[in-house]
Amino acid sequence: MDSGGISVDFVEFRRLVDAMGLTPEASEEMDRWGHESAPRLKQALLELYTTIADNPDLSAFFDDVEQLSHVRQKQYEHWRTLLSGLFDETYLESAKRIGTVHCSIGLEPHAFLTGYAAVLSALLRDASQLDGGAGRKGHRASQSPDIVIDALTRAALLDIGVALTSYSEAEQSRARLSRLKFSNAFRQAFTHSMSELDTAMGSLNQAAGQLANPDPAEDQGLNAAELAQSVTRSTAAVQVQLDELKSKMNEFLTATGAA
Ligand code: HEM
Repeated sequence: MDSGGISVDFVEFRRLVDAMGLTPEASEEMDRWGHESAPRLKQALLELYTTIADNPDLSAFFDDVEQLSHVRQKQYEHWRTLLSGLFDETYLESAKRIGTVHCSIGLEPHAFLTGYAAVLSALLRDASQLDGGAGRKGHRASQSPDIVIDALTRAALLDIGVALTSYSEAEQSRARLSRLKFSNAFRQAFTHSMSELDTAMGSLNQAAGQLANPDPAEDQGLNAAELAQSVTRSTAAVQVQLDELKSKMNEFLTATGAA
């Protein structure tokens, strides 16, 4: 993990794989079983996407049936990569992309997890039917359900961890970008207001000067002195506003880290 962010780099990821107890032997077992369970995976995904299509809140994320089946195929490929137990860069990129893509479309992590649970549960149920002794039809007799279930559980938790970390990172970077855009817009608006205020204050000062020192050639009327006082008061008020605006802008820029 780099020191400033939460992104999972490949070296850190390989450490996670080891810490998760995914040994090469366990991964190999999972890979062997993964090939055999491919039809079950396909079936689980068909069921998941039927559920999604029937749920208006979830189907709203898809433009049409074609996109739905395209995404189902993408998800199938991801599971196959995961079950291969290779945990290489291709796998890591796929897991991270799942986080960023779902974040970008605004799919809540809990909805993602619900879909994940449905597929994982189907796979675990399938693995539990392995018979380490005699073997069941279509499965190798030597495969122990315990080893496969153990590897699958660890792999799935690792996968979820990577996807959600990348989801959260994408969300943070989106928030950072929007803060930056906001502060730039705020700065521009602020600078403009201040320049307007400066101009107004200059005019007021000038008027105040003329009233306080009337030109004898011009008719100043009877209330020139009062007017002068009023203009001076206005000038002071504008100055107060200006100071306040300046301090607010500094506060804002400091708070958003844009200063
Ligand atoms: C209810 C749960 C889910 C919904 C509603 C959902 C929805 C979607 C949608 C709408 C897209 C297309 C995004 C776009 O490109 O505009 C997508 C892409 C994808 N989803 Fe999901 N998803 C769900 C769960 C999952 C799960 C559990 C996985 C796998 C573990 C997964 C894997 C993928 C993959 C691999 C892609 C393609 C990413 C790419 O473009 O490379 N999804 N999903």
